[in-house]
Formats: sequence, structure tokens, C-alpha cells
Amino acid sequence: MQKRISTMLTVVSLLLPAVVYSAGGEAQFLEKCGTCHKKGGQAAVVNPADKAGRVWEKYFARGRHPVDLAMSDADLEVVVDYLKVHAADSDQPATAVIPK
Ligand code: HEC
Repeated sequence: MQKRISTMLTVVSLLLPAVVYSAGGEAQFLEKCGTCHKKGGQAAVVNPADKAGRVWEKYFARGRHPVDLAMSDADLEVVVDYLKVHAADSDQPATAVIPK
């Protein structure tokens, strides 16, 4: 029993940084992208699973976004990393972070 609990704690503590990191990316995505990309907003709803990871990466690296994002490169990188982790071809695609 003791051993089982400590194994569980180890697993939880190993998972924690990943969870915190992706929660940060999700919060940034909702805050920075969700202001425009929402139901009734100025742009259509977007979600990580709309595109494959490589497509997300190239989209911003090539400056394809039609509107100035008013974000630092560092902030954009956090969001793009989050989008890639939950992209269409990822292990955990996220389709409804911003509800339609
Ligand atoms: C200032 C408002 C604004 C912000 C902030 C913004 N966008 Fe956009 N975005 C637009 C507009 C306007 C369009 C073009 C119209 C449309 O696609 O609805 C667009 C288009 C897009 C498209 C192309 C449409 C498609 O479905 O392929 C994607 C992808 C996109 N934005 C992703 C993002 C992401 C990710 C963020 C956050 C890093 C973001 N946008 C932040 C306004 C914004």
C-alpha cells in the first residue's frame, strides 16, 4: 500500500510540469487568440485540432495570419507550442477549447 501511494505520487509529480505548461498555453491561447476568434467575435472560431502541428508552425513562421497579433515572439511561441501539442495529428487533439 505504502509503495503504491509513493508510486502514484511519483507519477503525479512527473506529470505535473507538463500539465502546468499546457494549461499556461491554453490560457494564453484563450486570452490572446480568443478575443477575436470566438462565437460572435470578429473572426471565426479556431481550435488546436483545426490544423496539423507542422501547419500551425509554418502558419505563424511564414507570417500568414492576416491581422497583426500584437504579441511578443515569446508569447506567440508558447501559444504555437500549445497548438502543436493539441493539433489534429497529435496524441491529444483539442477540438473545442473555444466553443463554436
Ligand atoms: C485582433 C484580432 C485577432 C487576433 C488577436 C487573432 N486573430 Fe486570427 N484572425 C483574425 C482575423 C480577422 C482573421 C481572418 C478572418 C477569419 O478567418 O475569420 C484571422 C484568421 C486566422 C486564421 C485563418 C483562418 C483559418 O481557419 O485557417 C487562423 C488559423 C488564426 N487566425 C489563428 C489565430 C491564432 C492561433 C491566434 C492567437 C495566436 C489569433 N488568430 C489571433 C483576427 C485575429
